[in-house]
Amino acid sequence: MLNEKPLLIARDLTLDFRIERHLFGDRLIRALDNVSLEIGSGEIVGIVGESGSGKTTLGKTLLGVYRPTGGSIHYCGSNLVQLSKSASRGFRRDLQMVFQDPLSSFNPRFTIGSSLAVALRLYDICKPNEIHAEIGRLLYRVGLSPDFSNRFPHELSGGQLQRVAIARAISVKPKIIVADEAVSKLDVSVRAQILNLLKLINRETGTSIIFITHDLGVARFLCDRIAVMYFGRIVEKGPTGQVFSSPFHPYTAALLAARNLHSESSSDADETVFVPSNPASACNYVARCLRRTKICGIERPQPSALDIKHEVSCFVPLASIQEDNQNFQR
Ligand SMILES: Nc1ncnc2c1ncn2[C@@H]1O[C@H](COP(=O)(O)OP(=O)(O)OP(=O)(O)O)[C@@H](O)[C@H]1O
Ligand SMILES: [Mg+2]
Repeated sequence: MLNEKPLLIARDLTLDFRIERHLFGDRLIRALDNVSLEIGSGEIVGIVGESGSGKTTLGKTLLGVYRPTGGSIHYCGSNLVQLSKSASRGFRRDLQMVFQDPLSSFNPRFTIGSSLAVALRLYDICKPNEIHAEIGRLLYRVGLSPDFSNRFPHELSGGQLQRVAIARAISVKPKIIVADEAVSKLDVSVRAQILNLLKLINRETGTSIIFITHDLGVARFLCDRIAVMYFGRIVEKGPTGQVFSSPFHPYTAALLAARNLHSESSSDADETVFVPSNPASACNYVARCLRRTKICGIERPQPSALDIKHEVSCFVPLASIQEDNQNFQR
């Protein structure tokens, strides 16, 4: 839980992707829109939201894969956004990623042992004569026999390969692991094993995890806190229990009601087409929101804390209904 000073603080991250070049101005897409997120030491933070909401972009921006158009990422006293590639190299070791598709994240011509050795050598994790033993320890740590070191990626199952991907991430002793849909391609039974492995590593090493997922059930099982993204913005964030038991944002409530993000759009969609008076500055959920008021089509709501550590960006959060009911009953 986030009780002490956060390990990493992202403030107002904005990222525009250029999707078309034009003589009179390029066409841009705002993949991140003033995103602020804090990660505590040892904390597991879930990022949930439907496809295209900017989850992967946020993860990659935190890792330095993308340089944001605006905002800051404070880590160990430095703003990572302003550091040069070489200056940020030391910090980059502290942030590792585990991807959705383990097969495509390994070089098919390298054995598992060679792939793990690359990371160990890159950051001088151990002496050259200790690398072999260290690889054995890492494989054992993630529940695999050291013999897997001689195999090639295509000889492993998806679950085994994801274990190796986790071994590679922890091999450099990171402070934060970003796991992007790390279990969504796995069978349900294997999924539970990998989630338990991540939880174990988090508990034993204190490594923080940013867990990106479509699956609210998985997020609920694994995460201490949840941030809900919608069209490049975090619309709600708070402790997992609070977000699940009393969501403040109408979008979060719709997600929880639908439970499955893929079917969410049909259950949540408003039949009438609502056109905000000022689309550029309106709340970006306004067209789908059944609770919208006049202000929602004019101004963009800013994050505000309605409960301890629980923030929402909404002019008409659901908490106000609960409060209204309580007032009515009094
Ligand atoms: N490299 C890129 N160039 C241009 N646009 C991009 C790029 N990467 C992502 N986008 C766009 O940015 C937005 C956010 O994409 P992102 O991949 O972060 O979403 P996501 O929440 O991870 O989706 P999914 O759940 O499908 O993985 C989308 O509109 C996407 O089309
Ligand atoms: Mg993604």
